[in-house]
Amino acid sequence: MGDKNSAIADRVEQEHATLRTLMDNVADAFARPPSGEFADWKLDLVWQLRDFRNVLVKHFDLEEDGGFMGDVIAKAPHERRRVDMLEAEHGEFLDELDGITGDLKRMADTSSLPSVRDRLSGLVNRLHEHEASERDLMYTVYFRDIGVGD
Ligand SMILES: [Fe+2]
Repeated sequence: MGDKNSAIADRVEQEHATLRTLMDNVADAFARPPSGEFADWKLDLVWQLRDFRNVLVKHFDLEEDGGFMGDVIAKAPHERRRVDMLEAEHGEFLDELDGITGDLKRMADTSSLPSVRDRLSGLVNRLHEHEASERDLMYTVYFRDIGVGD
């Protein structure tokens, strides 16, 4: 598909693939047993969450301001509610990530690590579901009309 619309969809989908790798890496870092000095171990995880947040913010910028969401609404005005919901979720994810980072920073030892891990894996699962909804929406709007009978 070489047209402009599918170029936007391709770009979002490429970024989703990059994000999935990053989410796996962050999840792996949290799943590993703590090693070395506690403060160093904690700071490294805090910084990984900061980097992850920055990538997420830019990805959400791309979807919100890079043409994807506006284009979906232009092509399929009846999908506005779904787009609004997806956009609202972006803010919720960033708030949740900030909450997890705060939990991590407050850790004085590893006793609350299981609850931080649970919270992070919950967020990662919701992000996967969110991206699946976006993929579904893109497919519906950009590719539904291409096919037999049109
Ligand atoms: Fe996305």
